[in-house]
Parts: sequence; structure tokens; C-alpha cells
Amino acid sequence: MSTKVCGELVLLCFVSLCCCKFEPGEVLLVIACPPLPLEAKDECLALADSVREQRRKLELAGIFPGDYVLKVHVMHELFNYWTMLDALPHLRGQTRLLGPRTEWIIWCQHNTRLTSLRGLLEQLSRQNPRELSFYGHALYDSEATIIHHFLSYKDRFPYPMFSAGVIFTGVMLRRMVELVVHNAHNITLNSDFSIDASHELARFIYDNVSPNPQERTPMSGKILLKSASYICPTAAAVQGPEIPNRGPCCLLHAQPEEPSVGLLPASEHRKERCVYTSGSNIYFAIKTCAKFHKERIAIIERTWATEAWNRRYYSDVADVGIPTISTGIPNVQSGHCAKTLAILQLSLKDIGEQMGIRWLMLVDDDTLLSVSRLSGVLSCHNHTDLMYLGQRYGFRLHAPDGFNYHTGGAGIVFSLPLVKLIVERCSCPSASAPDDMILGYCLQALGVAAVPVAGMHQARPQDYASELLHLHPPVSFHKFWNTDPGHTYHWWLGGSLLNRSVPLAALKEQTAAAQLHLLEGLPRLGDVGFLQESGLEAAGKHLDL
Ligand SMILES: *[C@@H]1O[C@H](CO)[C@@H](O)[C@H](O)[C@H]1NC(C)=O
Ligand SMILES: *[C@@H]1O[C@H](CO)[C@@H](O)[C@H](O)[C@H]1NC(C)=O
Ligand SMILES: *[C@@H]1O[C@H](CO)[C@@H](O)[C@H](O)[C@H]1NC(C)=O
Repeated sequence: MSTKVCGELVLLCFVSLCCCKFEPGEVLLVIACPPLPLEAKDECLALADSVREQRRKLELAGIFPGDYVLKVHVMHELFNYWTMLDALPHLRGQTRLLGPRTEWIIWCQHNTRLTSLRGLLEQLSRQNPRELSFYGHALYDSEATIIHHFLSYKDRFPYPMFSAGVIFTGVMLRRMVELVVHNAHNITLNSDFSIDASHELARFIYDNVSPNPQERTPMSGKILLKSASYICPTAAAVQGPEIPNRGPCCLLHAQPEEPSVGLLPASEHRKERCVYTSGSNIYFAIKTCAKFHKERIAIIERTWATEAWNRRYYSDVADVGIPTISTGIPNVQSGHCAKTLAILQLSLKDIGEQMGIRWLMLVDDDTLLSVSRLSGVLSCHNHTDLMYLGQRYGFRLHAPDGFNYHTGGAGIVFSLPLVKLIVERCSCPSASAPDDMILGYCLQALGVAAVPVAGMHQARPQDYASELLHLHPPVSFHKFWNTDPGHTYHWWLGGSLLNRSVPLAALKEQTAAAQLHLLEGLPRLGDVGFLQESGLEAAGKHLDL
């Protein structure tokens, strides 16, 4: 045994003998809370209240399993903290929440529910707090997927369902903080992109945290998520042939979102805050190019176009048979920055003073949507404010030049005031720069947050764990490859298939060339060094599968 290992063991014995015997261990419950929508914030506070109330009752009754000291903390999301790994320095830093006596950390989200604090603490007191471990409801991929950087799925790599709650031992989280804060240069990160924070967390632990020697198993020698039967994807434990005996009932679980169409169901909060919104309030700018006019537009016309009255196809060529509007920008293989800015500018002109239109949604010609569900989501966001909604990804969030952006294939939604701001203030470093990333970068510089919409998806249904698809009513999917778009639209997006869509409103002849006025002023992306250094353009190509 090496002296280092001996030292660690001696230290471990010392700690357990001298500290833990006399002082109770701490349990820290963190609620990671998004800034919007306001309903999510309400849920965070309600969860914190419920836990504190349960704590109070246990204290009054004089029964507190494990004699733990329980701390409850609502962590409001600041900038990039949504990935957890990027939140860790904060946990140890100013807040000093994570201390040497923290034995367990219960990591929740706004839609996590704790059914019995007593049951959970009893459960924790039976588990070993000195192991480098984390527990959750394990999700698995059914095929290699782009959202997990094509990690081989054959190994059945488990990753936690975040909204069901994840539990870490204190030693595990302290080790992770140690790695992220003090050893950042030695960390293996598989990608500069943050796409699915839960998978990336499990992968980070697998790649970077080495098990204590006594816990090392000959099988893997690595740390994997431990599947905990008391952490469930829904309130009702799933009984199935795979899981004959679930052990303790669900103590932590995810709360599925109620589907809302327009303004229903009408909780009091929704009535106060929300404005009835339908497809007629949304302008859909669909980005296409000549080679896809036949194949892809036909699919859109057969599916969600029936709900989208204000839709325009923006292409590299004008095709009166559809019709499409030419942006005057030649098609490029990837990137599309110049084209996208041209589309936003042309759309703004096209919308003009149509008072009913509040939102603009930019989508690809292989995006599938539920317009009614989207309307439900938008009804509770403030369309007179600068709003930027979509499926949030991150790029280099660990670094000072990192930023969030909404990935294009899932569809990006802008309030009209924001479209005006983008047209005035954002520009492309090159015509083929990745449009969605450039938008995100520009908006972060302008102080506009990327607000995530849980139901929007950059990939196909089979690229996501079904537990997740059942948690939030899906709003969008992307890519027709190896799927039946009609089935996706009908089954996952709740759409009905009609034989013909509503004909497009007659379009005026559009002048072909759209001269972009790339205004001076902040932020001039071409001047930013990171674009060259980090190979952002290449990265964009990689993502544009
Ligand atoms: C990184 O790892 C190497 C070898 O494992 C080690 O020698 C070095 O001290 C580590 N660097 C830091 C900053 O910890
Ligand atoms: C919506 O945003 C506008 C502009 O920021 C603001 O003046 C207004 O108070 C907001 N409305 C609500 C209901 O928050
Ligand atoms: C679609 O067309 C088929 C055959 O042309 C017809 O049998 C069916 O009733 C149509 N469905 C709708 C919803 O119009």
C-alpha cells in the first residue's frame, strides 16, 4: 500500500473517530432553480417550504432520523450554473454550503418532489456516506445519440434523471469541487458543448473521479451512477417484470408538467400572468434551400403547417410553386449566419404592422412542431420584453468566454422587440459562421438570457430517454433521418394528420437581394478572438448533422 493511500486511510479513521462521533452530520438539500418561467420559481419555493415544514414536524415530534442537521438552499441560476459542474465552485465559494461535515447532498430541481423527508433520511442513514457515490433514477440510451456525443450505448451507461433528484455523498461532491476548482487543467472534458447536463455529469465522474482503492471493483474500476429504487421518474413506482421488487417506495420523484394549450389548464397563477396565445400570434420563418423544397416542405405542409397560418419559407431561390422567398444569400453547407440574419430582417419587414403577431419562431425545414403546445408555453412569457426561448445548449461554460445559446434545429423563439434588437446589433463574423451560436453569443453580450423550454428538442424522439419525453409534453423535434415524421407528429406531438394543409396566404413578390446592414457597435463578433481559437466554425459544422 502506498504511503499516500495509508495517509488517506489514517485521515479517514481520524475524521470518523474524532468528528462524526460527537457532531451530527449534515444533509444539504439544494434546489437548482431557473429564473423563468415564474411558475418554476414558485415551484422551487413551494418545494423548499414543504421540506422545511416536514423538518419542523420531525423536530417537534422529537424524531429526526440519523440526527442530521438539514440545510435547505434554493440556488437561483446565475448565468451558466445550469450544468451543475459549473455550479460547483459557487457551492463551495461564497455560500460555503458544502462543508467538511456535509455527508449527503440531495440535488433537486423545481419539478422534483420529496414525498417523505423522514423516509429519505432513514434511507440515507442506512447508506455509506464515506463512499464516492451518487444515486438517482438511471436513464439509458437505446442508440448512440448526438446529444450524448455519440457515446457507445452498448455499454449501457447510466445517467441520472435530474428532475427525479440526485443524491451525492459529501466526499463525492467535495472531490468534484476539488477537481473543478483546483485541478481544472487536468480534467478530461469530452466536448466544449454542454447539451445534456445530466449525461455530461455522469461522464465527468466516470472519466475524472477515481474510486477509493477499497471500493474499486474489478469489473469497471470506475464510478457509475447507482440506481436507487426510492428515486423515481414519476410519483407512482413503476411495477414491471424488470423490477420485481422496488424496495422502499418513491421518496423522491419528478413531477410531470401538465400539458397546456393556449391558456388551459387555468390555475390562478396562469390566469394572472398569462395572455391567451394561439398559432395566429406567431410568425414562423422556415429556413430551407432549393435542394430540399420538394421533399421537406411537403412534410411540413402535411403536418404542423395546418396550425401555422403565418408561415414563410426562406430559401436561396424564389420558387413560386411553394412559394419561397429568396434571401439573396447563396446556400452554404453549414453555418448559415448571413442567411439567418437576412431572414430575421426580411421577416420583420414582412410582419410590418400586423398587430396580432407577437413572436417569431425560426425553424429548419426538418423541424416538427406542436403549434398549440408552443402557444401554451408562450402564453406565459412576456412578449413585450426581450425574450429568447428554445432548447438551451452551452459552449465553453467553464471558461470566461463561454455562453449559452438556443440550438437551431429545435426552433428558436424571439419576441418581436428582440428581433429588432438582433437586426440592429448582431452581425456575422463570416457568412457561414454557425447561426445559432452567434445569436447566443451576441445576446449574451447584450444581456439577454437564453430561457430554456423543456419540450423543445434538437434531435429525434429516439435520441431521448422515454422518461424524459413523458415528463414534458414535447413541443418540437428535429431531423427526419431514420424516422417517420408523420408518426412523430401524431404520436409525440399530438398532431392530427390532414391530407392538405391550409394554403399559404398569397405572397407579394419579394425583392430578391437582401442587403444586410451590419451596423457598427457592440458586439462585433468578427473581432472576438475565441472564434478562431476554439474552432467555433468547425464545431458548428460538426453539430449541424
Ligand atoms: C496533473 O496531473 C499530473 C499527472 O497526473 C500531476 O503531476 C500534476 O500535478 C497535475 N496538475 C495539477 C495542476 O494538479
Ligand atoms: C413585460 O415587459 C415589459 C417590458 O420590459 C414591462 O414593462 C412589463 O411590465 C412586463 N409585464 C409583465 C406582466 O411583467
Ligand atoms: C385523406 O385521403 C384519403 C384518400 O385520399 C381519404 O380516404 C381520407 O378520408 C382523407 N383524410 C382526411 C382527414 O381528409
